Amino acid sequence: QTKSNYNFVVKEASYTRLCSTKSILTVNGKFPGPTLKVYKGDTIYVDVYNKGKHNITLHWHGVKQPKNPWSDGPEYITQCPIQPGRRFRQKLIFSTEEGTLWWHAHSDWSRATVHGAIHIYPRKNYTYPFPEPYGHIPIIFGEWWKSDVNDVYREFVESGGPPNISDAITINGQPGDLYPCSKSETFTLSVEQGRTYLLRVVNAAMNLILFFSISKHNLTVVGADAMYTRPMTKDYILHITRTINGSRVQYRGSYTQPLTPPLPYLPNFTDTQAAFDFFRSMRSLPEKCPFKVPKDISQHILTTVSVNTFPCLNGQSCGGPNGSSLAASMSNISFQKPTYNILEAYYYHIKGVFKKGFPNFPPHIFDFTGDNLPLTLNTPRRVTKVKVFEHNTTVELVFQNTNLITGLDHPMHLHGFSFHVVGYGFGNFNKSKDPVNYNLYDPPLMNTVMVPVNGWAAIRFRATNPGVWFLHCHLERHLTWGMNTVFIVKNGKSLYAKLPPPPQDMPPC
Ligand code: C2O
Ligand code: CU
Repeated sequence: QTKSNYNFVVKEASYTRLCSTKSILTVNGKFPGPTLKVYKGDTIYVDVYNKGKHNITLHWHGVKQPKNPWSDGPEYITQCPIQPGRRFRQKLIFSTEEGTLWWHAHSDWSRATVHGAIHIYPRKNYTYPFPEPYGHIPIIFGEWWKSDVNDVYREFVESGGPPNISDAITINGQPGDLYPCSKSETFTLSVEQGRTYLLRVVNAAMNLILFFSISKHNLTVVGADAMYTRPMTKDYILHITRTINGSRVQYRGSYTQPLTPPLPYLPNFTDTQAAFDFFRSMRSLPEKCPFKVPKDISQHILTTVSVNTFPCLNGQSCGGPNGSSLAASMSNISFQKPTYNILEAYYYHIKGVFKKGFPNFPPHIFDFTGDNLPLTLNTPRRVTKVKVFEHNTTVELVFQNTNLITGLDHPMHLHGFSFHVVGYGFGNFNKSKDPVNYNLYDPPLMNTVMVPVNGWAAIRFRATNPGVWFLHCHLERHLTWGMNTVFIVKNGKSLYAKLPPPPQDMPPC
């Protein structure tokens, strides 16, 4: 059931949820969108047609795309957007990934409805590192706003304050029993008693980290970010916060079902300790791992991740604390989205699009407890700054979470790579004490790391994939506020050593 060529037509379709109908942006009219099904090692093409009213780009989340940044997709990072009426053929190169990933729009907030799963099966004649599952069940979480997501986004940006909270959390596009007008459409897992199923779980929610559980069942985590993990059995899982109630398990056959099944146990959505414990207990299967954990590090980077404020400018409506405008930053730099894409600017030597020199250490010592820094130091600089790596550099990157405005976990996501998460901790990172406790034997191989509130997380990778790669918080409001940077990995000695050439139908700027 796999294909090597997909047509993705981005277009509006009418959907009814929570008792009201609206037009949403979809792929092929579907919400959630179609599932890409491939074998490990496949190369496929997706022809993306923009038949909507707005510019769009699509990104293949967690697909490393070796030497192929051209098809990665983040708007103004690797390409200019696909304009209405145009087509872009994207090449997807699957290398070491195996398991479940997803694809989503990567411009403004369109990914709220433009997303779907990617299922990557073992190569033909290979097996799973666990007994063959009896069935595969896709589970995609999302968020639903009753109003148009474009309006939600625009009001959010114009207000300077936090965004409107979504009206429902959905499972496979459905809000579930507890929401109005939703009961008859609730997603139902249909299973046979005594069988084992592989749930392929994707959190496509915009601004939420979610716990998930099924009442009276244990869940065994066997993989994450398209890499197998040491099996870990829990009564809930965390998927990079609110509690979800509202899908049912339906046993087929003669099993008698209680009329009202008990609600499942879930940690409270504010339970950051439960989130931390979940991530800290994850392990890889070292014998399955395609990359060695780098031991000799040539680049040490410490970066703060913070939510901050800008002073309110005249004529802006500033909905942040004390009349400020909310922002977010890494190393006190709030990433400014450029108006021309960085990859082509880099490839064609176009000046003035980005600046080199994202710092290895933040300019001020931030403190996780919340800083009493003077306001001027709390105010990030707005600039398009990138970090350039020599090819093959071994990098250690420590994210220090700070509580300037609020304390939150940040799911930091890197394009183009999988990295080992070698350590997590609470408090401020201590560069002489904390590395002693790193797990260099079986750390999980991920593309997103949870940086715990009041704490830090350390990752390692080897810069072997030349290109221009986005690094950002996957909470959409933090991305919009600038909790981002870009890594440029050289293809050889000179800064402009050529990458493979761009495809001919690269969207024009
Ligand atoms: Cu799913 Cu740039 O991310
Ligand atoms: Cu964040």
